Amino acid sequence: MSPLRTAILAQILGAIVAAALIQIGYPKLFNQTLLAAGVQGACAALASHKLEAPRWWVSIHLVFMPLVALAYGLGIDPLWYLGVFVILLLVFWRTDKSRVPLYLSNSATADVLLTLLPATPCHVLDIGCGDGRLLRRLAQARPDCEFLGIEHAPLTFLWAWIGALGMVNCRIRRGDFWRQSLGLFDVVYAFLSPVPMPRLWRKARAEMRPGTLLVSNSFPLPDVDPESIVCVGDRRHTRLHCYRPAVAGNIPAVAE
Ligand SMILES: C[S@@+](CC[C@H](N)C(=O)[O-])C[C@H]1O[C@@H](n2cnc3c(N)ncnc32)[C@H](O)[C@@H]1O
Repeated sequence: MSPLRTAILAQILGAIVAAALIQIGYPKLFNQTLLAAGVQGACAALASHKLEAPRWWVSIHLVFMPLVALAYGLGIDPLWYLGVFVILLLVFWRTDKSRVPLYLSNSATADVLLTLLPATPCHVLDIGCGDGRLLRRLAQARPDCEFLGIEHAPLTFLWAWIGALGMVNCRIRRGDFWRQSLGLFDVVYAFLSPVPMPRLWRKARAEMRPGTLLVSNSFPLPDVDPESIVCVGDRRHTRLHCYRPAVAGNIPAVAE
């Protein structure tokens, strides 16, 4: 089950169990919204645990309904919540499906990545380019190379697209990077999450040309030996895992 469905199911189960418990044990609690919400939160957290959702969901369920009750008490116009929800959706898009949130490569990573690019003119792809700042930095430093970023979150894409206006060697495209062939690129950069890595490896193996380089920020490919691991030396101890997908013998022993 997808994380979103599991979360919704945990909330519904939490509400049903909490309502039943309160009805049987102490019906007057229905009049104390915050306490009743606390009971629902505890039940939803338990349901989430039973549904084997990742552990951090438990704390979210625990506080979700009490926070809703508190916010409701503030009497804020519901349109504000809708507005915030729409903005978050446009920035993060379907993180529940892609399982890749938005976080950005820092400038130290960009500088190290520059040293990994071929010395000759080349084509570089950033799959899921976020606000495009990494590509802009690379494109400024290497005017002889062509950079393409693909981003599916509408507002994040717009931000990246506007930022790249006027740069002749940096293009930003809105779309799903799974639909983009990797065969046109000399270097493919990925800063995703552990979830899509096995699928990315299969795609890279099928499409990338011999000699081309796949660089994964932070997330190694399970069961695949990288050609090298480059430590960026920044505060978050960023590691760039470098692979040559088209090198014979690199068999992906991983499942999706
Ligand atoms: C961790 S951020 C990395 C941003 C940028 N590459 C960087 O290093 O600064 C991952 C980005 O990938 C985007 N993304 C996730 N899945 C995607 C998909 N299937 N197609 C296009 N973009 C995607 C997310 O919206 C997010 O902006």
